Amino acid sequence: MRIALGSDHAGLQLKNEIIKHLEEKGLEIKNFGTYTDASCDYPDFAEKVAEEVAAKNFNLGILICGTGIGISIAANKVPGVRAALCSDTFSAHACREHNNANILAIGQRVVGVGLALDIVDSFLSAEFEGDRHQRRLDKISEIEKKYSK
Ligand code: RB5
Repeated sequence: MRIALGSDHAGLQLKNEIIKHLEEKGLEIKNFGTYTDASCDYPDFAEKVAEEVAAKNFNLGILICGTGIGISIAANKVPGVRAALCSDTFSAHACREHNNANILAIGQRVVGVGLALDIVDSFLSAEFEGDRHQRRLDKISEIEKKYSK
């Protein structure tokens, strides 16, 4: 499994913890920045990771900012991306099972490292259940198409 990661400065520390965790598990990852704690803009990293995931160069993405809110809003502007902001493990597996989320967003200022790593594990180990959930995702795609130029 290939995982793309990105964050702004406010998500840098947690992203580095997650990268260490994923590497220990032997997963293939790529960090799309930011790489320093200098102040930067979360849409820049959301866009890079979202484009890579939408192009299917990576199976899944993980994005972190201070709250996880801005970076998930930005990622969801890329067609084909379903970014889910999670602060609990139930949502982290449910967003894969029901929503086929392809990007997990987390807020470094919201959850501690231990919970964040559990959230990541829940997200990565869950699988999309299809069936009626696919019908609902198809409706989301129709909305996306309706407003795409
Ligand atoms: C940066 O200060 C902060 O606004 C950003 O990381 C994020 O929380 C925005 O949604």
